[in-house]
Amino acid sequence: MKLKFYPTTIFRETPKVTFFDAGIESTNGCDVVMHSGEAISPPDEFEYEQYYVHSHQIDHNLVITGERKFILINPTWDEPHHVIYLKRSMGALEIPIGTYHRSISGKEGSIVLNQPVRDKFFDPKKEFIPQKLNKLSLIKARKIPPVYWVWENDQIKRLMFNPLVKKTANSNRY
Ligand SMILES: [Fe+2]
Repeated sequence: MKLKFYPTTIFRETPKVTFFDAGIESTNGCDVVMHSGEAISPPDEFEYEQYYVHSHQIDHNLVITGERKFILINPTWDEPHHVIYLKRSMGALEIPIGTYHRSISGKEGSIVLNQPVRDKFFDPKKEFIPQKLNKLSLIKARKIPPVYWVWENDQIKRLMFNPLVKKTANSNRY
């Protein structure tokens, strides 16, 4: 499974100024999700992880400041579980329709710009309802060791192990 990242075009970058084009073709939304400090979108409910899943919207998430870890689960994919340590340099991560997703910030927080493509049936009352992994196919996909995506040596790398965590007995941890 190859995830899509849409690169930005940097016009000018100096030690104190970065100026870039973040445009996504055919987007018809412009959403900002700000995390002040450690935060999860959507938050856990009791001990259960919650996810968003869209029916009428393709997300394109670009980190503006900080870093944001995205978790994607889609049982229809050959590799159904992905963890992306998203940074601005990686560009905008596409999240296809039907993909369960959540994102987590570290202590510093982060700001993400989402430029979605919404179809005519998009309804904000229905599109942003947090969901639990309540189907066997989803629970199974969540348990499969994820593919990790990181920014390393000026390029996006996909790895079959978590480069940020030393090996532990619990392989189910991110
Ligand atoms: Fe989303």
